[in-house]
Amino acid sequence: MGRFVIAVLPGDGIGPEVTAEAVRVLEAVGRRFGHTFEFHEALIGGAAIDATGSPLPPETLERCRRSDAILLGAVGGPKWDDPTAPVRPEQGLLGLRKAFDLFANLRPVRVFPALVGATPLKERVVRGVDLLFVRELTGGLYFGPRQEAGPDGEEAYDTMRYTRWEIERVVRLAARLARGRRKQLTSVDKANVLAASRLWRRVTEEVVRREFPDLALEHVLVDAFAMHLIRRPAAFDVVVTENMFGDILTDEASVLAGSMGMLPSASLGESPPGLFEPVHGSAPDIAGRNLANPIGAILSAALMLRYAFSLEAEARAVEQAVEAILEAGYRTRDIADGETCIVGTREMGEAIAQRILHCAS
Ligand code: NAD
Ligand code: IPM
Ligand code: MN
Repeated sequence: MGRFVIAVLPGDGIGPEVTAEAVRVLEAVGRRFGHTFEFHEALIGGAAIDATGSPLPPETLERCRRSDAILLGAVGGPKWDDPTAPVRPEQGLLGLRKAFDLFANLRPVRVFPALVGATPLKERVVRGVDLLFVRELTGGLYFGPRQEAGPDGEEAYDTMRYTRWEIERVVRLAARLARGRRKQLTSVDKANVLAASRLWRRVTEEVVRREFPDLALEHVLVDAFAMHLIRRPAAFDVVVTENMFGDILTDEASVLAGSMGMLPSASLGESPPGLFEPVHGSAPDIAGRNLANPIGAILSAALMLRYAFSLEAEARAVEQAVEAILEAGYRTRDIADGETCIVGTREMGEAIAQRILHCAS
């Protein structure tokens, strides 16, 4: 039976509320399957700025370095949003991704049958959707050469820069994942306008044709893809794209799943620790009120079990518990509709943990 060390970085807003439920669920997995998970909390984001002046204090980095995986809530909020502030909570998260070279961000988008009515889209559009976005996470606009506006505020820029090597490694990882699924890979770019996208398309084409000839590869322009994603989402399987396109498209994709609160993510590099966090942010509008949906964080814990610890049966147990609890009618407010039982963050986490403890599968 395994022993695993997990750095827990709750962060800001609803971050602490949803990570507490992911920890509760991991504890249930530990008891049910006989593993020991050792949790160590550390500061990140606005909470870390308030306590230390830095959004990513050295102690946090050290704590992560000594862990097998990192569980993160969310960072940011109005308190730290002054555009002239010297440091921002978001820099903590970007710094963490860069520090561990977490270049591939897996964002699965699955529509649970119980939630087909929770989206504003038609049931026939969302039913059966099972997408896997692979978002490049350490390059592009987020990390290219940039210029802050400075005191005169006359000019500022960010640049989308990619190297062949950065594209090759994330496309290879996406292609390997596509091989284990429906063998269908969609690469999203803006090659009709951007030089970085033309390189992206050329390298993707070369890597897939040479190393993964068994895959069906298609290239779709990002503006059109944003439309196809809500018109015929079931037509796609694995979608690989650059950093900012992936950021935007996955928030859009959360509508398919019923809510921002439903989507998990895994950020992976060549070696541990990986970072596991929900796709949503700190949701200041609902923070501190036991209203947040913890399922994105809980499913991120499932991804941790799968990708960081190779505990596939345990990951499935978490996913099946989430599915069963949704089938039983439990809903947080964001996914509520009709004859369902509205529960809070804690009650949803407890119900899922209890299901893992008491249900044979
Ligand atoms: P957000 O994702 O925090 O919220 C968008 C909307 O979705 C809000 O209406 C919110 O209430 C709702 N929502 C989000 N998560 C939910 C959940 N678990 N349950 C129920 N409803 C949920 O995005 P935003 O409002 O644009 O950003 C708020 C702050 O979060 C900003 O400071 C931003 O920088 C930060 N942010 C952080 C992360 C991260 O830490 N990974 C991701 C996105 C945004
Ligand atoms: C996300 C967030 C982050 C991003 C921010 C908070 C830096 O939106 O994880 O999706 O843009 O990557
Ligand atoms: Mn985002």
